[in-house]
Amino acid sequence: MARGLILGIESSCDETAAAIVERGVRTLSSVVASQIATHARYGGVVPELASREHLRAIVPVVRAAVAEPGCTLDDLDAIAVTSGPGLAGALLVGVTYAKALAYALGLPLIPVNHLEGHIHAVLLHECESLSDGQQSVAEGPALALVVSGGHTHLYLADPAHGSWSYKLVGRTVDDAAGEAYDKVAKLLGLGYPGGPWIDALALHGNPRAVPFSFAQIKTKLHLGGKPPRTKAAKTAPIAALDPHFLFSFSGIKTAVLRYVELHNLRPEAEARREALFTGPDAPARPTAEDALAMCDLTTLDLIASFQHAVVGDLMKKTFAAAEALEVERILVTGGVAANRELRSRFTSEAARRGLRVAFPTLALSTDNAAMIAAAAWPRFLSGEFAESSLSADPSLALGADLATKAMCAVGCPQAQSEVKAAFFNEIGHGDAK
Ligand code: KG4
Ligand code: ZN
Repeated sequence: MARGLILGIESSCDETAAAIVERGVRTLSSVVASQIATHARYGGVVPELASREHLRAIVPVVRAAVAEPGCTLDDLDAIAVTSGPGLAGALLVGVTYAKALAYALGLPLIPVNHLEGHIHAVLLHECESLSDGQQSVAEGPALALVVSGGHTHLYLADPAHGSWSYKLVGRTVDDAAGEAYDKVAKLLGLGYPGGPWIDALALHGNPRAVPFSFAQIKTKLHLGGKPPRTKAAKTAPIAALDPHFLFSFSGIKTAVLRYVELHNLRPEAEARREALFTGPDAPARPTAEDALAMCDLTTLDLIASFQHAVVGDLMKKTFAAAEALEVERILVTGGVAANRELRSRFTSEAARRGLRVAFPTLALSTDNAAMIAAAAWPRFLSGEFAESSLSADPSLALGADLATKAMCAVGCPQAQSEVKAAFFNEIGHGDAK
């Protein structure tokens, strides 16, 4: 009997991940092979190295995800894969592998937008926290803040009519918030990715010591119709958006740089980098405690103030958008959503305003494949499968049509019809053609 098992595959950046999720609501396995060790010495992701690492990892990672819950490939009902946005070479590894596997097994292939995956990480967590018999929490539209290393985007996410639809509400016009965390951490001689280091060290500084004002995080109104300078430039135009919901994190990065120069913090940052990472006596696995022992109060205050300003700006614009759109529910997701200050301040502000806010588990905040398999479930039910021409799209916009409603040439159409028919019978869905 069909169990609704979707194998998710994610390879958009520096994590090779595979997971099995049952009917979009229960994670049976979630395997993530991180490439942090490969990229850490460069202070950022090197695309060529990322592709090579994905090639190495994809087969063992998928095998582990299938074997962990005691499944075989024959138990799967569909395969879902991140088709964009992300690094071209990295995405191609996942897409090519998923296409080949779907074809060989005669299974439907479901392309998923990485950002939709992040949004579904919150919904998956909500479903998994429900006790048996409780109603699904996926009711009504929600405002989703996707805040990661590549994106700081606000979407109005609407679950009406079974499939989710997404409308872009706001976005960064330059750096993503996670990118600012990574660059500031690099400047201060901390590790990569920078978010977890800054998160831990900010607890020891005074968040009001350096008055980074919101004026430094400018919304570049003058951009008008021009495309913004950002990695995700082509994924979403900004001209039509309300400037109150636009973010900019390049200003605060420059302000931190100026502060570092003005207070002569560079030598200390270089010494820290050497002691923690590059020097002959650097520990094999440096920790935040090691870094703390090497930071003076000026640096800790700078770190705490940077984080306070970034989180404050994320909150200000997200809550303003929630008010303008009259939504009662906010989903915060992506790597930066793992941040402790962000979680606690969003939670208090939402309570003060009588709104609901939800986050993924910490493991599902950063890149993983369970979120991809979960996002694919509604698409599986509505038969949105990939064409055989599916390819990676590095600048894929959320809301773009990823698949055709028709039965497709990836996998075997006959098998796909049977799988669909079995499900629709089982769940009492009318249209089982
Ligand atoms: O979602 P993700 O794993 O990959 C992308 O899609 O970009 O996000 C990675 C980003 C990095 O910039 C990293 O520094 C940031 O998330 N990050 C954090 C934390 N953990 C990861 N930022 C702030 N606080 C954290 N605890
Ligand atoms: Zn991501």
